[in-house]
Amino acid sequence: MDRSYVPPVISGELGRNAPRVAEDRNFYARGPRAPSLFQIDGLPVTGLIEEFGSPLFVFSEYDLRAKAKRMREAFRSRYQKTSFAWSMKTNYLGAICKIFKSEGWIAEVVSQFEYEKARKIGFDGSEIVFNGPYKPRSALKAAIDDGALIQIDNWDELSLVEELASEHGKVIEVGLRVWLDPGIKPVWSKFGFALENGEAERAATRIIDNPKLQLHTLHSHIGTYILMPDAYAVTAKKLVQLREQLRRKHHHLVPYLNLGGGFPSQSLLHGFLGPVEQVVPPIEAFATAITEVLRELPPAEQPMLRLESGRYLVDEAGYLLSTVIAVKGVNRPMLTDEGLSARAYKERMILNEDSRIGYVIDAGINLLYTSAWYQFQILPARAIDAPPVPSRIYGSLCMAIDVIRDHVDLPPLETGDILTIHPVGAYNITQWMQFIQYRPAVVLIGSDGKADIIRARETLEDVCGPERMPEHLTK
Ligand SMILES: Cc1ncc(COP(=O)(O)O)c(C=O)c1O
Repeated sequence: MDRSYVPPVISGELGRNAPRVAEDRNFYARGPRAPSLFQIDGLPVTGLIEEFGSPLFVFSEYDLRAKAKRMREAFRSRYQKTSFAWSMKTNYLGAICKIFKSEGWIAEVVSQFEYEKARKIGFDGSEIVFNGPYKPRSALKAAIDDGALIQIDNWDELSLVEELASEHGKVIEVGLRVWLDPGIKPVWSKFGFALENGEAERAATRIIDNPKLQLHTLHSHIGTYILMPDAYAVTAKKLVQLREQLRRKHHHLVPYLNLGGGFPSQSLLHGFLGPVEQVVPPIEAFATAITEVLRELPPAEQPMLRLESGRYLVDEAGYLLSTVIAVKGVNRPMLTDEGLSARAYKERMILNEDSRIGYVIDAGINLLYTSAWYQFQILPARAIDAPPVPSRIYGSLCMAIDVIRDHVDLPPLETGDILTIHPVGAYNITQWMQFIQYRPAVVLIGSDGKADIIRARETLEDVCGPERMPEHLTK
């Protein structure tokens, strides 16, 4: 048997609330009715909107913990020496971070703001990995004082860390960010030091030679939504090689390898056809690819493995509930208006507008930045016994590009219908923008089945609070 074969895992990977019926999940065998979603963790979708307003982000604590458990088991059952960091930029709501903290995750941050937020949430300095291309001097100083692990991105940052280290009483442990060719495109070359031309080795040597620094980690984050487990095997091999080179030349065995994030969630990019399980490999396949490389090393030389995932852990746990506020459709007159002229019909064909009904909903790309890449599921909150027809979901912004799904098959909807958009837990809350509308409330359905607000709906004061009026304009 091919040792790289990983059997498909049929489980709650889509989250407890995802449509369970096979026909719902299979584009080709869907039958006449499109999938709907009535409740999340036992709470009716319509009731949530009544209580907290629309639109509304909803997160499931059950799903977050289930994902953490699955990831932990996938890696630790293969390689006990695995540790986990939560990529805060994926979703830095305090309640979400606290859940991962309680699951044993430390924090991975990429900016001064995130660093300060991690400390405020309650992560100790020693529980923070500090990445990112821009770490201001004051942030670096705080991180050094607090004992956080700085993963150095570039030569200028290395010089700054050296300078701060020379003023610091103790030896400082640091990581080195490395970029390499993992055999897939695009190669992320913006961050860290290049492996292939020896730059990473030169930077590592400079750190090892500095008595005030200790090289703790070799790190590489190859990208996000990576569908090829083998790319991680290549990355692990290359980092192991670099580690070996450093040991031979400098007698320093770097204790940690950090393979970054990048594991995909159960989401499809635009243009991909489902079912999603056939496109997205299970987490166990990634765990196998990475840990097989590390297990080839003699046990005493096996490094600690660190992972700093975001998307995989949080995407499916997040839902956006939204209400249809208008039904638009150039084809609607065609269905009823027999007098439609051949010319008008042709015009519509040319515009490619003839076959789609448009639904305007009360959420837009202001809340769903990642809709530019991912085709979210759109799930009505009631069963509609009518065949799905090509439809388009418009957001509520006064911008033509505000389209959440350009083409999605949906049963006929009415104004007032509630739709659940899923999965949206990764990156949307951190990348959302305040453009002409208030950002909505976010609730967490706790393990006890109770819904709590974890971020209140914005008010005029929240938005205008930081504004100041020059004296002469107040008169
Ligand atoms: C350095 C670093 N680590 C981890 C992550 C998390 O990636 P993902 O959400 O794909 O797991 C990112 C995001 O791109 C990142 O830049």
